Amino acid sequence: MFKVNDNYLKLPGSYLFSTIAKKVNAFTAANPQAEIIRLGIGDVTQPIAPAVIEALHKAVDEQSTTEGFKGYAPDLGYAFLRETIAKNDYEAYGCDIAADEIFVSDGAKSDSANIQEIFSLDNKIAVCDPVYPVYVDSNVMAGRTGTYDPKSETWSDVIYMPCTAENNFCPELPKETPDIIYLCFPNNPTGEAITKEQLQVWVDYANKAGAVIIYDAAYKAYITEKDIPVSIYQCEGAKTCAIELCSFSKTAGFTGLRLAYTVIPKELKCGDVQLHALWARRHGTKYNGAPYIIQRAGEAVYSEAGKAQIAEQIAYYHKNASYIFNGLKEAGYTVAGGVNSPYVWLKTPEQMNSWEFFDYLLEKANVVGTPGSGFGPSGEGYFRLTAFGTYENTVKAIDRIKKL
Ligand code: MLT
Repeated sequence: MFKVNDNYLKLPGSYLFSTIAKKVNAFTAANPQAEIIRLGIGDVTQPIAPAVIEALHKAVDEQSTTEGFKGYAPDLGYAFLRETIAKNDYEAYGCDIAADEIFVSDGAKSDSANIQEIFSLDNKIAVCDPVYPVYVDSNVMAGRTGTYDPKSETWSDVIYMPCTAENNFCPELPKETPDIIYLCFPNNPTGEAITKEQLQVWVDYANKAGAVIIYDAAYKAYITEKDIPVSIYQCEGAKTCAIELCSFSKTAGFTGLRLAYTVIPKELKCGDVQLHALWARRHGTKYNGAPYIIQRAGEAVYSEAGKAQIAEQIAYYHKNASYIFNGLKEAGYTVAGGVNSPYVWLKTPEQMNSWEFFDYLLEKANVVGTPGSGFGPSGEGYFRLTAFGTYENTVKAIDRIKKL
């Protein structure tokens, strides 16, 4: 008889956002008249920018001609996009990242889940707590996390680095030395960011400890404050210890189009082995490249018109974030995030845990959010609302919450 990968059987429950969707579907079935406002999963609502749509149309039309037709994309990404990213996202910020250190893919979710494959199972991971659940779950699937304790909701072989109001949502260096450190800033879910000086401490630590940092910068487009780095490579020494994950989803509304990139500098080595070479080998074997038309759309994000239109979209979501942040504050909630991020992180009322508050908001205000405990044990007692809704729905949702 065949055997399954029983690491999958160790996973408690379903993926966070699937659990939420199931609960909301059950509620909707029982209350068909309820007008539900979804501020749970961080999915965008604004249409794709006109400059991007134009590039998409053009790329589609090219497919109808013999000269313009494109088959398999280069598995690491088209040079036109890799060069555009290197110039706009790195050179412009003083980071020395070459186009061939950028790997184009169909999403930061899959990259953040897959990147652990190039590391030995013996490595110990450290994660911020709370954090995007994909980092831990993908390591569970690989068999790197030990045993699960349902009481504390922790894995025996994972180092948890609490990020709570007590430490200003900035993780402290762990007591036990990890091999792989997942950092996500601006953070999902807390919406808080760290300064370049604070990030430099992590880079120095990783270089000294021989650890690698997997830096998820999916929300960098939302940074508004000057001292917050948009890339880990703004820190000295990051090229020898950090991999960076970036996404077009939150930057340019590509959650449906699917486009992302991962940076692995050639200087990042384990002994003589370049991680770059391993990821290139993995990509070559398991991936046939993001579609040409989507990569052309990605290129248009960096055109003059694209940049201006996307800046407007981000301002729109920032306006939502401010409305949520200020509205909740007025209603007496303790709130964080929302300034360098599309997420607002609030403390649940004393008598309610995260899931109780989820049910309460769904039933009493017909508003969907994300329970903090779904992101890790230190998320208990917190709740996340996303600013990615429409402005009208955001206002309605917050006004309903204020009336409770
Ligand atoms: C979230 O809501 O945390 C994100 O949208 C999920 C994702 O990016 O996959």
